[in-house]
Amino acid sequence: MTLQGHHLVLGVTGGIAAYKSCDLVRRLIERGASVQVVMTESACRFVGTASFTALSGRPAMTDPWSGANNGMPHIDLSREASGILIAPATADFMARMVNGQTNDLLSSLCLASDRPIWVAPAMNRQMWSHPATQANVALLRERGVGIWGPGNGEQACGETGDGRMLEPLEIIAHLEAALQSIERPSTPPLRGLLSKRRVVITAGPTFEPIDPVRGITNRSSGQMGYAIAQACAQAGAEVTLVSGPVSLPTPMGVNRLDVTTALEMQAAVDQALSSCGPSDVFIGVAAVADWRPIATRQDKIKKETGGSLASLEWIESPDILAGVGARPPSQRPFTVGFAAEIGQLSGMGEALQAKRKRKSADVLVGNIATESLQKSSAELMICGPDDTTPWPRRDKAVQAANLVIEIARRLQEAESN
Ligand code: C5P
Repeated sequence: MTLQGHHLVLGVTGGIAAYKSCDLVRRLIERGASVQVVMTESACRFVGTASFTALSGRPAMTDPWSGANNGMPHIDLSREASGILIAPATADFMARMVNGQTNDLLSSLCLASDRPIWVAPAMNRQMWSHPATQANVALLRERGVGIWGPGNGEQACGETGDGRMLEPLEIIAHLEAALQSIERPSTPPLRGLLSKRRVVITAGPTFEPIDPVRGITNRSSGQMGYAIAQACAQAGAEVTLVSGPVSLPTPMGVNRLDVTTALEMQAAVDQALSSCGPSDVFIGVAAVADWRPIATRQDKIKKETGGSLASLEWIESPDILAGVGARPPSQRPFTVGFAAEIGQLSGMGEALQAKRKRKSADVLVGNIATESLQKSSAELMICGPDDTTPWPRRDKAVQAANLVIEIARRLQEAESN
């Protein structure tokens, strides 16, 4: 996860090497970066926006006149980015950069940005060695633009020479070196990732009363669930947070329903999910008390009069997450669970996968209870149907933002299949 926490704008311009940029996006995401692809019109003749959208989990942008981002995408898009990488960069695009032309979204973005810009040129060898191109490259270098490549070898046009775009892994090596001196943004940008989706989240513990003064509960501060609710709201979702007893403020833009017991939590979740379907999301983060007394005593159980907790009878609480996972497909949201375990996360992959399947969750997030309880950071293990990925310890707000990006990506992937 060498690029974890970095957000990049990837500009794709019109050359045959654009197909390699699909692989580049995959590899950037694999390394933990979030990527916003911006394409020129001629790039779209080589590769469709749908490929980049599916691979990056964010709609690839081409239109400077789109209503998104307050109608000013050329200003907004690079604000949160660690830098702008243009791969492939055509001779024409570099010439436009040199002249400060702004006749499409990507060129406007380059002119309106104060972020570092790196280009990976790709063109026919004659075009590369032409004095016009060489003069442009020299000027860009002088202005601080990183020029990576081109490589030498066989070209799509059948000629051999300088002009091949560097391979994705070579570009990533340059990027990793360039980013060493650039601070990661504290949380990755989320704007619009979950727009038009409803998200229902459970958080905190439940409390099962035994008598008027006693009860059984699980230890949970609610911090992780609240951080996720906040991140989902920032990503544009309509968020319902079903919360057990915690002492945390309600995140901005979140609809909060307070509950005490597991049964109340289940009823609130059912109500909140009543009209949800496959494009919505359920995230069960709550530490639900697995057992409750069969009956709550109305009077206080007193030792003095021979009362004892030992004679209490217990019944298992419903598994809320498993219930959501087992809904019929048309009413089943994308389902994410959490599992607080004890021990070491490494080596726990199989057990977590088994739990994910048992609960019919799309994603199960493992964490170590003793290592994350009451702490503001957490180490996680993300388990999907085909993957088990450790996420090193980070602030819970950062983990929450990364989880939202992950969920948005998986949802989009599921919807494009
Ligand atoms: O089985 P375990 O408690 O480890 O599973 C944890 C996951 O299941 C969490 O997502 C938790 O919110 C959910 N869960 C639930 N209802 C229960 C017990 C756990 O939704 N009764």
